[in-house]
Amino acid sequence: MSSVSQSHGTGLTAAQIAAVRAPLSRASLLPATVYSDPEIFRLEKERIFARTWLPVCHISQIREPGSFVSRQLAGEAIMALRGREGEIRVMSNVCRHRNTTLVDGEGQCKGNRIICPYHGWTYGLDGQLLAAPFMDQAEDFARREIKLPEFRHEVWHGFVFVNFDADAQSLAEQMVEFEPLVAPYRYEDMEAFEMRRSTVPWNWKISLENFSEAYHQPWVHTNTAEKGFPAALAEYLDANGPYSAFFLPEEKGEHIKTFTPPHADMPDAFLRRVMVFNVYPYMHALTDPATPIFLDFNIKNENEHELVWHVLLPKGSSQKPDILDDVKLFGSFIEPVLLEDISVCTGVGRGVQSRFVTQGRLSHMEKPLHQFHNWWLDHMLVENSERIAAE
Ligand code: FES
Ligand SMILES: [Fe+2]
Repeated sequence: MSSVSQSHGTGLTAAQIAAVRAPLSRASLLPATVYSDPEIFRLEKERIFARTWLPVCHISQIREPGSFVSRQLAGEAIMALRGREGEIRVMSNVCRHRNTTLVDGEGQCKGNRIICPYHGWTYGLDGQLLAAPFMDQAEDFARREIKLPEFRHEVWHGFVFVNFDADAQSLAEQMVEFEPLVAPYRYEDMEAFEMRRSTVPWNWKISLENFSEAYHQPWVHTNTAEKGFPAALAEYLDANGPYSAFFLPEEKGEHIKTFTPPHADMPDAFLRRVMVFNVYPYMHALTDPATPIFLDFNIKNENEHELVWHVLLPKGSSQKPDILDDVKLFGSFIEPVLLEDISVCTGVGRGVQSRFVTQGRLSHMEKPLHQFHNWWLDHMLVENSERIAAE
């Protein structure tokens, strides 16, 4: 049988969905099963990760021809790479021979070639197979017709995004109302440095939601972020697109003391506040006037993901001999806050396994969660035609 409420295959009931769809003042969280059910994760791969814009890297991470960043995006091995003419490509990182991944981590392709570590098949920076050793006895082996699949990408304010759906609406078009709030930071004129990396044993949405609100600050970040940026002053944006944001003004309304100087033309209002935003499904950024932090998610399964934190520093920073000391120093200011977040997320990861949880109510200070949950439902509650046909 296939009633409307079951046709999407998520197992969520009409009442559970209605509780999330209610206006914020009446709304509840998504049911806890969505943070642990492997079937939900399978559907997320199909309905979210295969169709929406996924962040891959910052353009400064692939600066020279042949430089690459490889990522594992919810099971899809991809690489972003800079071509001979400086063009950016996002391609499959899987060899067309026996399907091993071609490159690992970040780095530079030797001689502007991608050489498979398994049997030496060699590709150009455009993905074209150039050489395949010992294949001369394979009949009808059309080397010239073998190429790594290339995916649609878009560079948004210096961040490379990929979308596996050729028909998806452009990210910039979806983000148009957010433009004036992002453009002055000029992320595209900065350089990214990795600060911290850790693999955590809970669902990716738990991390995203934690970084989406200031509500937890007085209890979790009592002696860190809450000092100077009290959560009670947080202002939440009415977002019209796949994103959410809130602002934390400097306590006394003064210019924020930053690690590096802000761009000279930064508008005054931006100098007095921090902006925290997400681009769904999982780009996260915390941006003071001069030193933005962004977070990458390498999602492995429903119960595990890797979190990679980067900081953006002014252009040319990589040429400074002591830059890694600077990154370390900046990281040491942020580290206590991250550890505090990790500690509470660990608790949520345990709690959502309970059989006794109900859909908790939301505070007005959790508006981004309400926005995210509704965006998530918009994508997940599509009809499951395959399943209906079988029923
Ligand atoms: S798997 Fe790449 S050459 Fe064999
Ligand atoms: Fe936090």
